[in-house]
Amino acid sequence: MGIVYNEKAKEFHLFNNEISYIIKVLENGHLGHLYYGKRIKHREDFSHLLEIRRRAMAVFYYEGSSFSLEHIKQEYPSYGAGDMRYPAYEILQENGSRITEFKYRSHNIFKGKKKLEGLPATYVESDEEATTSEITVYDEVIKTEIVLSYTIYEELPVITRNAKFKSFYEEKLVLMNAMSLCVDLPDAKYEMIELTGGWSRERHIKTRKLEHGISSIYSMKGTCSSSNYNPFIALKRPNTDEYAGEVYGFSLVYSGNFLAQVEVDTHEVARVTMGINPHNFNWTLKNGEEFQTPEVVTVYSDQGLNKMSQSYHKLYRTRLARGYWRDKVRPILVNNWEATYFDFDEDKIVNLGKKAKELGIELLVLDDGWFGARNDDTKGLGDWYPNLNKIPSGIADLSRKVEELGLSFGLWIEPEMINLDSDLYREHPEYVLRTPNRHLSNGRNQYVLDFSKDEVVEYIYKMLEKVISESKISYIKWDMNRCMSEAFSQGNDSEHQGKLMHKYILGVYKLYDKLTTQFPEILFESCASGGARFDPGMLYYAPQTWASDNSDAIERLKIQYGTSMVYPLSSIGAHVSAIPNHQVYRNTPIETRANVAYFGTFGYELDLNKLSDEEQEKVKDQIQFMKEYREVIQKGTFYRLTSPFEEKYTVWQVVSEDKKTSLVGFYRPLQEVNTSYKRVKLCGLHAEAEYEVSINNTVNYGDELMNLGLSISDLSSGEFTEKYDGTNGDYHSRIYVIKQK
Ligand code: DGJ
Repeated sequence: MGIVYNEKAKEFHLFNNEISYIIKVLENGHLGHLYYGKRIKHREDFSHLLEIRRRAMAVFYYEGSSFSLEHIKQEYPSYGAGDMRYPAYEILQENGSRITEFKYRSHNIFKGKKKLEGLPATYVESDEEATTSEITVYDEVIKTEIVLSYTIYEELPVITRNAKFKSFYEEKLVLMNAMSLCVDLPDAKYEMIELTGGWSRERHIKTRKLEHGISSIYSMKGTCSSSNYNPFIALKRPNTDEYAGEVYGFSLVYSGNFLAQVEVDTHEVARVTMGINPHNFNWTLKNGEEFQTPEVVTVYSDQGLNKMSQSYHKLYRTRLARGYWRDKVRPILVNNWEATYFDFDEDKIVNLGKKAKELGIELLVLDDGWFGARNDDTKGLGDWYPNLNKIPSGIADLSRKVEELGLSFGLWIEPEMINLDSDLYREHPEYVLRTPNRHLSNGRNQYVLDFSKDEVVEYIYKMLEKVISESKISYIKWDMNRCMSEAFSQGNDSEHQGKLMHKYILGVYKLYDKLTTQFPEILFESCASGGARFDPGMLYYAPQTWASDNSDAIERLKIQYGTSMVYPLSSIGAHVSAIPNHQVYRNTPIETRANVAYFGTFGYELDLNKLSDEEQEKVKDQIQFMKEYREVIQKGTFYRLTSPFEEKYTVWQVVSEDKKTSLVGFYRPLQEVNTSYKRVKLCGLHAEAEYEVSINNTVNYGDELMNLGLSISDLSSGEFTEKYDGTNGDYHSRIYVIKQK
């Protein structure tokens, strides 16, 4: 298992127990693609899989032959030398030509996986976990090489890919496009799944049938992968569901402008490309310079969407997230944002801390408004020192006071942004991204700092380093609340402008790297107006992400369900907030708010001092429940059972690794009457073992629960005989605890 190169057939076979991927060096030296999918038996020669038929109106490589690049599946195709479809890359040369020809030159197969310089990526802890092949292709005319890297994990149906360009050419080259991945799939009978939405309705699942032409999603927001489209697509067969059937997942480890596209040609080949968005990207390469693309992580499953998601969860939880917090259960927190917004002072925060401690909470997070002249969202961004009018003791003393209460202390920052009304702007107006002689638009009254300049990143780092190192800080929420506009790096030349969008994101990664290296025990949570930067790039630095500003339990069902398509529960920031909910004014029972928020990194986002005595008792129980089960929730295997996008009720389940404990979350937004009896088939249990099921108070064998199902019938299956108790009407939910006897 791993990667086998067959010298004679010039073929690479990447395989493990579950998947195979086959590459062939074609007769003209280009890299051809033979197969990607379920594991097939290894053999010395797969040449018979190559299909070459003469087709009319094609452009042929050799006179009198059938060899046309338009009709051969390729690994990293170019445009204009026979293939007329969208390419994997494009290089503009000084003479104006974009024609290139990269041919196989050499390869290097090794155990393990290399780091990507300056970029987040999945990794291995021991070289035995994966095998990598670096295949170098070379263009003789422009003396440029591309190293195409493929890593296959041993125990997961995962292949990662990236490409690195290096020029040895005396003339200047401009990379106009450099995708991380291209795969030519031999047929197009797929539906494309995307995670789409907007602010407060992030990562809703949308599915569309592939048709001739292009289906694509993208970000051109500059600062983020965006809440409009997550950098992920999946191609599933029409009959694939959560439990069975074929699906390919493609997930880009990147936080900026991206493009994911599937082009179906009129011969039904589906070409998937994914990488940095070529729009607004012109990367000049000079002699000796390199360009490294981000990584794409592909997962293949023939056991439905749950299996695909579980493969991503495992990989991203244990081999993308890193550091001190990777394997630890996450602290239960209270965040003051929805409790106070900007209207707080030191006493309010300390009082919130006191109540939090009494209820069992572990971490107090001070959100926006603690710094500079920040009393509303028009001022202060950029001035990362305490607002002494609000916090007279300063952050250092406040953090100590909170620690003395027996809680950890966390702080909100938004390092990439600036208000014009700030000391930073008055001192360094040149730090702002803005096009000379043009109007400058704002977002939330704020402007974007030029993180493409090392000097700016360093300046912000120093300010943050000071406040963090002077204080007792255990957690940082790194927020980012606007997209780029009129972006231009002041004082830099036109070459720099072509690199700006990507360099900005590299600057963000640089600051994350510096802070997480300097403060390795701080838990980082990324955030961008809620979940506008919930992407694998962020998870490399910050193991959890605030999923959405929408904290309503019913809205959260869709958001968290969609998020789980790729991201593990340990990464999904989810809190109980006040009612009426601040985004949709819905009143849901406190039980349901918690029952949804448990399936993530749990916390509260409300004024605990305003809770009634009865509610406080409930909150205490909730915290105790989460402490007991967070290990199972955050590290277990997650199954989506019924979808909020398709069904009247949502059910999901998590199972501990040893299969002895499982939690089933049942959520029913609207009550019904005199309906059918209901069962839902569970997953992942020991068939032969006996399990005690809470609520129903029954003992069931695992095979009963998995084949017959868990009974979720309630009073809605007949006449109403019970009284309304505040929870058994609309917005009702239950958590079934299932334990092996
Ligand atoms: C947007 C975030 O999503 C919120 O949670 C909060 O931190 C605000 N920003 C603060 O300005």
